[in-house]
Amino acid sequence: MIVKQNQELYMEAERFITRCYTELGKSQEIQSRLQAIEGSIQETSQYVHTFEELEHGAKMAWRNSNRCIGRLFWDKLHVLDKRDLSTPNEVATALFDHISYATNQGNILPTISIFKPQAHGKDQVRIWNHQLIRYAGYETENGIIGDPHSILFTKVCQEMGWNGDGTRFDLLPIVIQTSGNPPTFYALPKDIVLEVPITHPSLEAFASLDLQWYALPLISDMLLEIGGIQYSAAPFNGWYMGTEIGARNLADLNRYNQLPEVARILGLSTERESTLWRDKALVELNIAVLHSFKQAGVSIVDHHTAAHQFQLFEKQEKEKNRALTGDWTWLIPPVSPATTHIFHQSYDDRMVTPNYYYQAKPYK
Ligand code: ARG
Repeated sequence: MIVKQNQELYMEAERFITRCYTELGKSQEIQSRLQAIEGSIQETSQYVHTFEELEHGAKMAWRNSNRCIGRLFWDKLHVLDKRDLSTPNEVATALFDHISYATNQGNILPTISIFKPQAHGKDQVRIWNHQLIRYAGYETENGIIGDPHSILFTKVCQEMGWNGDGTRFDLLPIVIQTSGNPPTFYALPKDIVLEVPITHPSLEAFASLDLQWYALPLISDMLLEIGGIQYSAAPFNGWYMGTEIGARNLADLNRYNQLPEVARILGLSTERESTLWRDKALVELNIAVLHSFKQAGVSIVDHHTAAHQFQLFEKQEKEKNRALTGDWTWLIPPVSPATTHIFHQSYDDRMVTPNYYYQAKPYK
């Protein structure tokens, strides 16, 4: 059993090291590196990535992320090696540092922090949050307050002893678990979280909706797999595409559901669907999101520009003779999809490794 697992790990390592070193122009080092890895696996059933392997592996994993339209910038990922940390306090400090570093006063840097990988199939570090920065959601007698997406996790935090203010935009705490210990929660220091109030370039009444969103989309619940090693805590961020906020987070019926409010500000009748009031409200809300981020000096990309960038990525991959994979259903933007080239093409949705994977929630 152990022998078979070791064999599989070695085969994954061999596939990764060969690709990685070839891409980095270090083919002549493949043999000696594989010998060292083989020795390490025989002795300890593990091997340890060099920083260079970790860095390039994380970048390859982004490049292989079928659902991501932002992959042109895969090689610009900033990789922070946090594998030497073991206590929740240390991890929390590293996560706060990640937020400040990546936020960079609004000039967002795509960044990943990589913590200790799984050992013998068990997590050594696990972050319970879906994103490090996220708003709480509460079920009350008068309906849901805040982000409905966060209701279950908010309950988990409350059971641990956390108490939110009860506003629509309460920042959730970070919940960290290390090797078999119970989880610990940490409030986010307010001063490191950049948020943007939503205003409209020409409709002043828009501000009265009191909408806002945070600057940094920082996914913290996915598992990074590189060469057979599983990094269960590897939180990463890019910058937002406007539609993620304007056409989903603030607009979805099961999220903040703001289209009726926006229609009211616009003076639109919501009586008949055929007036396309939803579509009108959606476009103005998305204009407001892009305008607000621009005005606050926070990186953001509109979906047309993002699609052009993705087209460049497609061309670049072809030139490098790498097969492109993609998930059409995620790559098309939720506003005006057919105005982008993506809509008129099909993509191969094979999963290639290294990659970022969903993993089971640590709470039910
Ligand atoms: N769609 C998610 C959200 O609205 C964020 C996913 C990652 N997005 C990104 N631009 N890197 O919060």
